Formats: sequence, structure tokens, C-alpha cells
Amino acid sequence: MNDIITNNERRKNDDRRIEEPVIYDNKLIAEIESLQIAFAETTEKLIKDVKRQDKIMARSDKRQQKEYDELQKKLKEVNELSKEIEDTQKEVIFTMGAIGESRSRETGNHVKRVAEYSKLFALYYGLSEEDAELLKQVSPMHDIGKVAIPDSVLNKPGRLNFDERLIMNSHAQIGYEMLKHSNRKLLKMAATVAYEHHENWDGKGYPRGLKGEEIHIYGRITALADVFDALGSERVYKKAWSNEKIFELFREEKGKQFDPKLIDIFFEHVDEFIEIRVSLNDFLE
Ligand SMILES: [Fe+2]
Ligand SMILES: [Fe+2]
Repeated sequence: MNDIITNNERRKNDDRRIEEPVIYDNKLIAEIESLQIAFAETTEKLIKDVKRQDKIMARSDKRQQKEYDELQKKLKEVNELSKEIEDTQKEVIFTMGAIGESRSRETGNHVKRVAEYSKLFALYYGLSEEDAELLKQVSPMHDIGKVAIPDSVLNKPGRLNFDERLIMNSHAQIGYEMLKHSNRKLLKMAATVAYEHHENWDGKGYPRGLKGEEIHIYGRITALADVFDALGSERVYKKAWSNEKIFELFREEKGKQFDPKLIDIFFEHVDEFIEIRVSLNDFLE
């Protein structure tokens, strides 16, 4: 009996021993499995999120790229337009200069030579490449005021009398009046050059009798470049001067009519100035 009970008990105990771990293992596996599922779901969700984020970013990258491209395109258009405007200004200035000179029967090459001499003076004087180039653009305009001078005075073969000289000299003031209203840098500088290209270093020039550095450097340079070219060329009223005669006048007028520093530059680099005259001579036209 005892044995039977004992056996029964043992069996029960045995059953419990067998069953319990099974139940325990199943729960654990189920938990692990559910954890695995949850983990897989979370991972999948995360991957989806990352992918969606990538797509959003790619889309916004594309949009940004498109906006950037459009901006670049507009910028290019603006640059082209401003270059066009600048080129037009240069052409207008050069043409007006040529008109001014043609009235006094000077050749188109006169203004081209004055432009080149002026740039060379500007660079040796120490102006920047940009300022020297600006002067090159505006110096051909120095005599634009001559469009308003009557032919009888402008092209008189002999010497001008006092009154005629006054009329002739008014071209500096007239040129300035013609150009002074513009807000454009090029035209503003052209106005200054027209106004001041007959001022003398010693204050004895016209129209305002400015002295020394009161005269804009563009005016001082154009004055010397213009005289150098005018003297070396044949005009209705005179033969071309020899170089020696021009050099003598320049030595004489250093510190009087002309800025002494510019005269020094001229003699230091005289070969280069002569070279410009030769390369743009009137017989090539
Ligand atoms: Fe002049
Ligand atoms: Fe001139």
C-alpha cells in the first residue's frame, strides 16, 4: 500500500517534473518569439522610416538643386545683361568721341591713340589695371564739346583771334555740361575728362584754373596724351612736329602746363609711346 502510494506519488511527482519544464520552456520560447516578432516589426518600421526619410531628402535635394540651377541661370542672364549695358556705354562713348574729333577733321585714330597713351600713363603712374582701363574708355571723349563749336572757328586754317579763342575754349565746359547729368560711372568720368583736359598744372589753364592735384589724374593724363598726339600729327593749320621739338616743349612745360611726374614717365618710357603712335598711324586707315 505504502508502495502503491509511494509509486503513485512518485508518478505524480515525475509527471510534474516532466510537465513543469515543458510549460516553462514553451513560455520562454513564446516570449522570445514574441520579442523576435516585435524586434522584427520595429526593425522593419525603422527601415521603412529611414527609406521614407531618404526619399524625402532626395526629393528636397532635387528641389534645392532645381532652385539652385534656376538661380544660376538667372544670375547668368543678369551678368550678360550688365555686360551688354557696359559694352553699349563703351561704344556710345567711343562713338561720341569720334564724332567730336571728326568735326575738327581729326582722324578716328587720334582718339584711339589718346586712349592707348592714357592707359599707359595711368599704369606707370600707379593706377590699378581697372582704373587705367576706365581711363582708356573715357579719354576719347575729351573733345566731345567741339560738336557745339561753329565750323568757321573749329576749322579755321590760320590763328584764332581773341574772341574765336574764347569760343574754341568753351568746348571743355560744353563737354562737361553734356555729360554731367549721367549717374553712370563711365559717363561721369568722361564728364570729368572733358571738363579738365585743358587745365594746367600751374593753374593757368581753363575753364576753372585748377592747380596741381586739384586736377583729376584722368584730366592731367588726357591733357598730356592729347597734346603729344596733336603735336605729332598733321592738322589743317600745321605740319606734324618732330619728336625733338615735342620733347623740348615737354621739358619746358614740366611743372607748368603738365604734371611733372607724368613728364618723367613719358621720358622713361618714350619708346612705348612712340610704338603706339606707329602701330596706330593715320596712313593705315
Ligand atoms: Fe580739347
Ligand atoms: Fe584731341
